[in-house]
Amino acid sequence: MLLVISGSFSAHMANSDGFVVVKKGKRRRPRPNRDCVSSSAKVFDCNESDHDIDFGRVKEKIHFYRDELKCSEFYTNVQEQLKQCYLTVYQERRKQDSENRCDPDLDDVERDVAGLSLNDCPTNTTLPPDMECVCYGVGNISGNIISQYQLALVLALREDFKLNQDRCFMFDPVFTEGEKQTLQDLHFSIIPVNEEGKRRCHGPALFFLPHCGKALYNNLLWCNWHLQTLSNIVIIGNSFKAMVERTPQRLLKETGLYIMKIQEYTVEIPLSQTFHHSDIFNDMAIHYFPLHRLTSAPGELWEAHDAPVYSQHDAEIILS
Ligand SMILES: C[S@@+](CC[C@H](N)C(=O)[O-])C[C@H]1O[C@@H](n2cnc3c(N)ncnc32)[C@H](O)[C@@H]1O
Repeated sequence: MLLVISGSFSAHMANSDGFVVVKKGKRRRPRPNRDCVSSSAKVFDCNESDHDIDFGRVKEKIHFYRDELKCSEFYTNVQEQLKQCYLTVYQERRKQDSENRCDPDLDDVERDVAGLSLNDCPTNTTLPPDMECVCYGVGNISGNIISQYQLALVLALREDFKLNQDRCFMFDPVFTEGEKQTLQDLHFSIIPVNEEGKRRCHGPALFFLPHCGKALYNNLLWCNWHLQTLSNIVIIGNSFKAMVERTPQRLLKETGLYIMKIQEYTVEIPLSQTFHHSDIFNDMAIHYFPLHRLTSAPGELWEAHDAPVYSQHDAEIILS
């Protein structure tokens, strides 16, 4: 089967489900979600309440986009890049584990923080089996084609890497009840509170923050501001390098201090830009924090780490 989808086809599917609806009176134009980046991809149905949405159709589209992604060069690259990065994380971790075992000064907790055991070597089709997968800020999956493709990517990765469904979480404050139900139907757990990205990891974790504001990445880094913990985390999201280069220093200190601090110790692998919709995975990269880089940082980097404070006006984050 040839899986080709064009912008107009997806827009047609989304708008009319095969029917042309003619309404009398003033024509309502779909308003773009104001939390979303401006985009040339079609944004549709944003204003409709759950009541008007066919969530069965939404699920169909997401499965369709997942299948389409799986056939793409873009997806093959992402899979390869993730495998490579987890192999590096694993190898470093293994080395660290054996050093820790011989270190009489470490207590059990410090040994445990390592997270990956010798049996957990990532293979061609698996990432660490106990890995948590957390997605923040995917947006309105019922009305935004960008969000649907982004969700489809997580779905595809979860399937192909055999991630534990019970450990796959989603949160966006804009989710409607219908969207939450749809995500649950797709076997994602909805995080019940707005963590503002402050999620402490106790083992390997993959975060997906597609096109999210700096504050969300910043909080995540701050909350895991420890050598052992950070080295267990992989973040797919906006390029830290680009954020640091493009944001004036004063502003970055306010909204992205921890991004600024960690950037030089981060390995950043840009997502390939081969996907045919250019505004879904643009400006994104896989980020990880290899131990050998983190240990080369001066000790002060880890010492003072005050909780970030944002003014709702400046920060691109919805606070709890
Ligand atoms: C720029 S939009 C990106 C939406 C979509 N991923 C895209 O690429 O178009 C940023 C998203 O971050 C979400 N967001 C804001 N604060 C958040 C929070 N505290 N936790 C999770 N997501 C949050 C917004 O609701 C919004 O959907």
